Amino acid sequence: MSRAPQAPSEAQAGHGEAQAGHGEAQGIDWAALDQAALAARERAYAPYSGYAVGAAIVVRSGRVFTGCNVENASYGLTICAERSAIVQMVAAGERDPVALTVATSGPVLGSPCGMCRQTLAEFARDLPIRLIAAGGDAPPRGTSLSTLLPDAFGAAALAR
Ligand code: THU
Repeated sequence: MSRAPQAPSEAQAGHGEAQAGHGEAQGIDWAALDQAALAARERAYAPYSGYAVGAAIVVRSGRVFTGCNVENASYGLTICAERSAIVQMVAAGERDPVALTVATSGPVLGSPCGMCRQTLAEFARDLPIRLIAAGGDAPPRGTSLSTLLPDAFGAAALAR
């Protein structure tokens, strides 16, 4: 069953300082989240780009949802790992992500694309994010959604 978007003030409640760090939020089992993202990356369907991505989101209840990129012969239909994880989360009845790990590979760390940043912003005002490379090809980096997408467009702008 759908639910109307929360009012901005309600949506922001509970998304405060505890998540405002750069991948250092307290109480997050980052090692487990990293492993979940790496495992999801192994299941990526990326025959066209050859670039496998995995994402793992932990929600306030502690449940973890994963996603991988799923490409298509009609290239524009590709869904990224981060949005695929968000879809899993919402379909399971959860809407409160508290941390995200994104796993890519190669010497240059991947970072959520603009579309994924906006999709994440629908469900979290801020979110600690860890970017990791499979095989340790690059050192991990901590960031946050508010760093990657400052001044995000949101439900507040639609208020009439
Ligand atoms: N990709 C993701 O899964 N997440 C991102 O944030 C950036 C890009 C995927 C899409 C495509 O399958 C491949 O990486 C190359 O762009």
